Amino acid sequence: MRATAKQSLLQSVHTVRNPASGTVFSEYTFFRKGTGEIIMCGIIGFTGTANAVPKMLKGLSVLEYRGYDSVGIAAQTEGGVDVVKCKGRIHVLEEKLREEPLPESHCAIGHTRWATHGGPSDVNAHPHRAGRVVLVHNGIIENYQELAEELRGSGVTFLSQTDTEVAAALINACYDRLGDPAAAIRQATDRMRGAYAFGILFDNRPGEVWVIRRGSPLILAKGKDGFYLASDMTALLPFTNQYCAMEEGRIACLTAASAMLLDDAGGSAAAEWKTTAMTPESAQKGGYPHFMLKEIHEQPGAVEKSVSSRIVGGLPDFSADGITPDFWKSVKNIQIVACGSAMHAGLVGARVLEEMAGVPTTVHIASEYRYYPPLFSDGTLVVVISQSGETADTLAALRYAKSRGIPTLAIVNAVETTIPREADRRIYTYAGPEIAVATTKGYCTQVSVLWMIAAAIAYTCGRIPEEQARATVDALAKEVPQAIEDMLAKREQFVRIAKGLVDHEHVFYIGRGLDYAMSMEASLKLKEISYIHCEAYAAGELKHGTISLIEPGTPVLAIATDPGLVDKTESNIREVRSRGAQVTMICREGTQVPEESADEIVFLPNRSEAAVLFASLTAVQMIAYETAARLGCDIDRPRNLAKSVTVE
Ligand code: G6P
Repeated sequence: MRATAKQSLLQSVHTVRNPASGTVFSEYTFFRKGTGEIIMCGIIGFTGTANAVPKMLKGLSVLEYRGYDSVGIAAQTEGGVDVVKCKGRIHVLEEKLREEPLPESHCAIGHTRWATHGGPSDVNAHPHRAGRVVLVHNGIIENYQELAEELRGSGVTFLSQTDTEVAAALINACYDRLGDPAAAIRQATDRMRGAYAFGILFDNRPGEVWVIRRGSPLILAKGKDGFYLASDMTALLPFTNQYCAMEEGRIACLTAASAMLLDDAGGSAAAEWKTTAMTPESAQKGGYPHFMLKEIHEQPGAVEKSVSSRIVGGLPDFSADGITPDFWKSVKNIQIVACGSAMHAGLVGARVLEEMAGVPTTVHIASEYRYYPPLFSDGTLVVVISQSGETADTLAALRYAKSRGIPTLAIVNAVETTIPREADRRIYTYAGPEIAVATTKGYCTQVSVLWMIAAAIAYTCGRIPEEQARATVDALAKEVPQAIEDMLAKREQFVRIAKGLVDHEHVFYIGRGLDYAMSMEASLKLKEISYIHCEAYAAGELKHGTISLIEPGTPVLAIATDPGLVDKTESNIREVRSRGAQVTMICREGTQVPEESADEIVFLPNRSEAAVLFASLTAVQMIAYETAARLGCDIDRPRNLAKSVTVE
């Protein structure tokens, strides 16, 4: 039997469930005993000659990937500072502004929030006001209760449950005493523990936006009609491509005429601007219904760019990244540390590093790394991987390794972020802005760069001959993008498979070797965007307990791309088949699959190991996407998630 044999049966069992997105979100928000802490968020601000409010709305709609349970804007008007905020997403705020429009304002700040602790509500939404101060905040003030107690002692009352309102009150108290914004911000933030990026308005200082960051991301930007701040440059691409990364602890003052950076000694300097290569189109859907689908389709170009820029004379070469052959020769073992999909990319990378380059490599979940400290030895290199460059656990792991004197290398997509700034060495992936919360091209480029590193070490250290090094990088630069394209042409089959999954609560992915590593990413992709529970299992391990969950009809997707292991995985497929599982097999073209083994077979182009791996990646991404699409899920903004997780 071949791929189409069960098509009509699968189509006939398909029904569409109710959408599980948007409105469901608030019911799933986590609470931590009424603390109301605000964890991640996106902030934006503008001051200049144009109307600021439409700019805030446009920028916030891009920043929604950072959180989207409540939103607000503060705008300076003739009467002071007006605040409009609400629970819900941008369209709720827009509706509110249609009913009660704000007067034209040339100076404003905005915020979109993601709460893990404390319910999304109008009152907890930002901006927060205290006396003369109105501010937006991304981060967490760890000692806010202690500060709140002290402020209550001097008569301050709080309306919300948030740490941010305490921060506003503290800055206001300092401003009352000192009368100088910079001094007030410095004195107040010196007392705060935690992470923060603030955009601050003082109601008696028209046209000024004050800024400070420590631990949370923030950039400044310069447009034709004024100056901006934002958590992320993508929010400002509709307005400008000129940006300036903010150093830790630095205060900035934006006016219509200038962006001044202030130092502790009272000195000031004008911000220096760089030009980003990102374009407004790179942060738009470009005709695709979802960013995720667009980003999956961008993978061939992203891999090609990430790989080709590290090929010189047909061989792997990282000298443009400042990494010499001698450095690769000094590496005796590697610890990869990351979170989520980036950690899964590390699992693939580790196998390739061990097999091709012969470098012992372990992979660690960043949030566990410091609590179960790994053993370092002579020649240990710690490699941290992060699409956003801001993930708090990954950053903490990086700092831990550095504190122990271990050389560090960061593989990061977002430039000018904290992780690449702090790592000893950095290699950027060229995925471009990734907007969908569930990563696709980010992961894809991470794996391609890890593969290139393995080739570089293997070649430099004489562990593979020159021809093999040439063939490896050539396959990554040419065959891989083509293999991804070939898989994208199979969309109808992915739709058919998705239709077979939508009515199930539990799904399994199984695989051996690299296919097991891929199964883990496949399983995460499916569950995070479709909300269907999915487990990844090493195919041979299933029978040691988990097989008891297999019932007639349970979907099992088996990835079996390794010609040396396919027979063994087929045995495991037979084990679940005989218990009634509905099996989809993902394997190379030409694999002889016995008729009774699978309901559906996804054939991958039978090329190099790398091309096959990336083809299987594209297949599992598309299966997840089509499943979530059929369920009406909020694919780009899955409930409870955020893209940039800046707390531990
Ligand atoms: C979040 C995202 C995941 C991502 C992980 C690590 O949980 O939702 O998609 O894999 O963080 O993010 P990073 O930016 O460090 O790669």
